Amino acid sequence: MTLADVAYMPEAPVHDLEIDEINAEAFGPGRFTRAAYKIREGGPHDRSLSFVAMHGGQVIASVRMTPVAAGEGRAQMLGPLAVRPDFKNMGIGRKLVAMALAAASRAGEPAVLLVGDEPYYGPLGFARIPRGQISMPRPVDLNRLLAHEIVPGSVELLSGEVGHAALAKVPQRAAEPA
Ligand SMILES: CC(C)(COP(=O)(O)OP(=O)(O)OC[C@H]1O[C@@H](n2cnc3c(N)ncnc32)[C@H](O)[C@@H]1OP(=O)(O)O)[C@@H](O)C(=O)NCCC(=O)NCCS
Repeated sequence: MTLADVAYMPEAPVHDLEIDEINAEAFGPGRFTRAAYKIREGGPHDRSLSFVAMHGGQVIASVRMTPVAAGEGRAQMLGPLAVRPDFKNMGIGRKLVAMALAAASRAGEPAVLLVGDEPYYGPLGFARIPRGQISMPRPVDLNRLLAHEIVPGSVELLSGEVGHAALAKVPQRAAEPA
């Protein structure tokens, strides 16, 4: 198999079952207790910014994006990102992150944050969020709170506890004028 056999596309409802299996395989039952999972319980992810990698008609990797809010700040939260074991270390994870960031930028999203390993995400454009600036609804290692700024100054606006944007007092995107 070569990378030419891998196709990337926006996520669709038909992929849901396979994505659930990939995340179960990658993160195990502990995934339900994670801070990011708790936030994702607050509302839906944004399919228009979420992508899958396909091989032989099957989903082999997935990245999801969920709109979040923290204080005055708005962002997309990247995750889960998972690649089937047989397809790891081929650049598929990196490619999915790049696609999600590009889509977020095109959509006018101000920033993308995540809970993850800096050695992996740092080279992909993420930097640590200053300690104490934001918190998560469950305990996390603060060194793993990372952000990719799209609109200058947008990460600074994030403050306090991160929650799903649907639960924020001010909606994430201003309504289109009638
Ligand atoms: C992490 C994951 C998404 C990476 O996807 P992938 O397609 O295998 O990774 P890529 O091919 O894009 O990148 C591979 C490189 O990243 C490195 N890497 C993988 N996971 C890493 C991690 N957690 N920390 C640092 N580096 C990591 C690999 O060693 C490799 O380095 P190299 O290019 O110097 O050889 C994948 O391993 C996975 O699904 N893991 C289980 C779920 C998970 O941990 N998701 C991330 C949540 S934060």
